[in-house]
Amino acid sequence: MKIRNFSLIAAICDNYGIGVNNKLPWRLKNEMNYFTRITITSDDESKKNAVIMGRKTWESIPEKYRPLDGRINLIVSRTVTEKPIKSDGVFSDLKSALVQASCMDEVDQIFIVGGEQIYREALTFPECSTIYLTRIEANFDCDSFFPKFDEKIFQEISKETVPKEIQEENGLKYKFHVYQRKSIEL
Ligand SMILES: NC(=O)c1ccc[n+]([C@@H]2O[C@H](COP(=O)([O-])OP(=O)(O)OC[C@H]3O[C@@H](n4cnc5c(N)ncnc54)[C@H](OP(=O)(O)O)[C@@H]3O)[C@@H](O)[C@H]2O)c1
Repeated sequence: MKIRNFSLIAAICDNYGIGVNNKLPWRLKNEMNYFTRITITSDDESKKNAVIMGRKTWESIPEKYRPLDGRINLIVSRTVTEKPIKSDGVFSDLKSALVQASCMDEVDQIFIVGGEQIYREALTFPECSTIYLTRIEANFDCDSFFPKFDEKIFQEISKETVPKEIQEENGLKYKFHVYQRKSIEL
């Protein structure tokens, strides 16, 4: 079964940190709203987008916010075999989750939403077409990181749906970026 093109979405600080103690190192409500808007908005209104995440990221989401609503939540785990309550499925490897999302008629876009282990593997797939990256202009102590990716392969593009201005919240500056794999048409 063919895997459809999919996107990664992450927020990173200057040292590429994304998390600490299985939590986000920062609290940025508007950035979170951006994440929700990008991942929830489907091109086809009769369908939902799928979000694929590692077991640790699923567990890092406060229970009251699980599942990520309006989206199909798929978890990847080698140890958990029974579908976590409120999720839409658990898969023993990333490829199986991507194949499943790719063949579900009700799925529109597919987003990989973390964490480090899942981003790292997702970037090795040629179907990984787009990276939505929020760059926070600060350094935080982190124990999980976004992988360095080749900016010759992923080129920055502008998208109408993504604000270009520098954002400021809680004394932190950040900017939304979108990178697209070369030779893929949006
Ligand atoms: N800043 C951001 O945008 C952002 C976004 C998401 C997450 N985060 C942060 O990232 C951190 C979590 O990242 P993480 O790397 O520690 O964990 P993770 O990638 O969320 O989850 C890791 C778990 O996923 C499963 N897994 C990973 N690769 C697998 C594979 N190939 N096949 C099957 N299962 C696989 C394993 O689960 P089992 O152990 O059950 O086998 C593994 O322990 C947290 O701090 C979170 O807050 C940040």
